[in-house]
Amino acid sequence: MFILTNKLLIDKEQNLVKNEAMSKQKAKTDNQKNLILGIETSCDETGLALVEKSPKQSPVIKRSLIYSQEKIHQKTGGVVPEIAARKQVEKIFPLLNKLVEEELEGSLEKIKAVAVSHGPGLVGSLLVGVNLAKTLSFGLDKPLVKVNHIKAHLYAGFLTEEEIELPAIGLIASGGHTLLVLIKSHDKIKLLGSTKDDAAGEAFDKVAKLLKLGYPGGPAIEKISQGTKKSSFNLPRPLIDKGLDFSFSGLKTAVLTRVKKIGRNNLSDQEQVELAYEFQEAVVEVLAKKLFKACKNTKAKTAIIGGGVTANKRLKEKIKEEGLTAKLVTPRIDLATDNGAMIGARASFLFEKGLTVDWRKLEVKPNLSI
Ligand code: KG4
Ligand code: ZN
Repeated sequence: MFILTNKLLIDKEQNLVKNEAMSKQKAKTDNQKNLILGIETSCDETGLALVEKSPKQSPVIKRSLIYSQEKIHQKTGGVVPEIAARKQVEKIFPLLNKLVEEELEGSLEKIKAVAVSHGPGLVGSLLVGVNLAKTLSFGLDKPLVKVNHIKAHLYAGFLTEEEIELPAIGLIASGGHTLLVLIKSHDKIKLLGSTKDDAAGEAFDKVAKLLKLGYPGGPAIEKISQGTKKSSFNLPRPLIDKGLDFSFSGLKTAVLTRVKKIGRNNLSDQEQVELAYEFQEAVVEVLAKKLFKACKNTKAKTAIIGGGVTANKRLKEKIKEEGLTAKLVTPRIDLATDNGAMIGARASFLFEKGLTVDWRKLEVKPNLSI
């Protein structure tokens, strides 16, 4: 980091004269495409992306690079924060170098702004991305955009080349969060409901562990449930008819009770499949119903979903089965989980509105809410 900062300081001095000339051209360049570097390191994915946006158009990915630590954390059945942070440090510079060499002819000068996810997330992991972003902003004299990781999940949808009409309802279902929001505009996002206990993805991970299906639980449960159409188990649909809040911990306990009754080591393959299937049905039904209800209440014309759980095919089917009239915007499957492109995408709208921060004032916010 020190060597990089020194190099950037030299570049910065050389750029001062150039920048003065450039500011005179600002009015002209404001109508041009903005190229944003998006940085994501809030948990166990290292994501770096270049996202381009023209005025009045949806952002487009120029390149997105992701390193996932999934295999490392499979051994422990969940993310170990210290290991996650150390791997972030190890991986971020090779990824940055690759991006700069392969997409920017070796120079970061072409980017308009640096954007970073500053929370919520694991403090050690977040610090890696935030420190890199601050260093680049200072050294290259580029504006810095701070991005809320939860909100960013919805902006993967804006990368699908769709025309997105606001106001929209947003459903975020990830490993750390499950909530419904109303996106009135890019800087006015209102919380409508959230989970009172576990997040949907967290419940998938815990239930998969109970059923000995490994980590991460969501893809494992989805895979084993494929082809199944019914189950002899009946699990609750928590809070299904009550408002827009969620609760998934009771559902996980209900699976635990069934498993204990049978005996964890006596669970047959059939029982394992049927429990996984019924659990997935319960989660997707609750998510789909509440999304439908939020759209109906607000008369929103668009519904955008995002976060790891929205990679689930059954969830998308169930939303359609609910008869949603709002246009459904789903993220590309590889952009449902954490990535730098969603950070760049959200930042591209914030940057257009002039919402930048001074690098000296940016701090990590592990408990940031919506
Ligand atoms: O959005 P994400 O990558 O990270 C957070 O910000 O939390 O979400 C990860 C979560 C994990 O809990 C994982 O089990 C879940 O998303 N997930 C899925 C699927 N793919 C990932 N859940 C259900 N079905 C999937 N296909
Ligand atoms: Zn996430």
